[in-house]
Amino acid sequence: MKNLFITFEGIDGCGKSSQAKILHDKLSEIDSTALLTEEPGGTQGANEIRKLLLRENNFSWSVETEVLLFMAARNDHVEKKIKPALEKGYTVICDRFIDSTLVYQGMRSELAKKLCLSLYKLIGQQPSLTFLIDMNPQKALDRALSRKNKEDRFENYGVPFQIKVRDTFLRLAEENPKRIIVIEGDSDKQQIANDIFSHVQKYNNKISN
Ligand code: TYD
Repeated sequence: MKNLFITFEGIDGCGKSSQAKILHDKLSEIDSTALLTEEPGGTQGANEIRKLLLRENNFSWSVETEVLLFMAARNDHVEKKIKPALEKGYTVICDRFIDSTLVYQGMRSELAKKLCLSLYKLIGQQPSLTFLIDMNPQKALDRALSRKNKEDRFENYGVPFQIKVRDTFLRLAEENPKRIIVIEGDSDKQQIANDIFSHVQKYNNKISN
């Protein structure tokens, strides 16, 4: 398995980070060139921007400015880590990517969505496959709040916000049926992991033939 770029998306607390890690471990067992990374962050520069964006009580920027910051972090991440790894033949697994910006910022303003899409066209790096871990918003929020830390800005908005985020992710999945696979996040963790792994194998076989 080589050069696949796999992203995980979903509402806060849906379990995507655990699934990204399990997939990374599974791929590493059969293929030593798998890289696990995350957004916002992934490089030193992107982590500096992450701190600005996610610290508590930071509501000073417009949503459009937020897009520019998330995209600046993404550009650094793609440029310094994701692209070089893919070029070396790694399979890259990324916990959140472009769809998070399209959803969290894009749902709040049409201009934010347009900014996001046009900058993304310039940065490029389309994921091969995206797993959207879908989950009951209340359950996911309870889980997210139980591991609350001072960075979790977006989790403070409550269930109505989580419902809106979930709906926007699901709409995005409907618009991108070939790339985005919706996974039922309420099922057994191991079952979900097996399901994800078989989708990755199926995709890999398809592009190898
Ligand atoms: P993260 O630390 O990855 O939280 P989680 O463990 O829930 O995935 O991300 C922190 C928050 O940043 C999360 O609530 C989603 C938000 N976010 C955006 O609003 N836009 C983006 O482009 C990205 C990547 C994340």
